[in-house]
Amino acid sequence: MFTTQSLSGDKPQQYAGLAAQARALLAGERDRIANAANLSALVYHALPDLNWVGFYFFDGTELVVGPFQGQPACVRIPLDRGVCGAAASSGETQRVEDVEAFPGHIACDAASRSELVVPLFRDGALVGVFDLDSPVPGRFDVDDQRGLEEIARVYLESLGT
Ligand code: SME
Repeated sequence: MFTTQSLSGDKPQQYAGLAAQARALLAGERDRIANAANLSALVYHALPDLNWVGFYFFDGTELVVGPFQGQPACVRIPLDRGVCGAAASSGETQRVEDVEAFPGHIACDAASRSELVVPLFRDGALVGVFDLDSPVPGRFDVDDQRGLEEIARVYLESLGT
């Protein structure tokens, strides 16, 4: 059984601890669905003030919802829509302090107030996005962004080469 360890230290140290837990959790498994499911659960329960954590996968045309924790979500997101589409099409993490001020934001859960979306690329090809929503405005700062980008790297590394 995997036991979640409590996180200590300042925020970068907490994320370093979370990344180590993520590596241990995914070690020896390459299945992208299994690893996305376990990583979503780990992050959702480890970090405060989140109402959705999960993955969208690129099917060659648009983003399709994958494993997640939280309320049921929009199934398909075109690359020119929403915060997820912006992350996937730009290749850059989208850190949105106020989702209502983001043009084209897709409200899957009306409780969401801020959002962080990390694009996932493997060998230059779009795999999907790692998406986190919070009911708290401005929930994600630069330390959160760096920490969650590292968690996304752990996920991509788990898929192998
Ligand atoms: N808000 C996202 C849609 C996905 S949900 O947050 C789970 C967006 O605007 O792309």
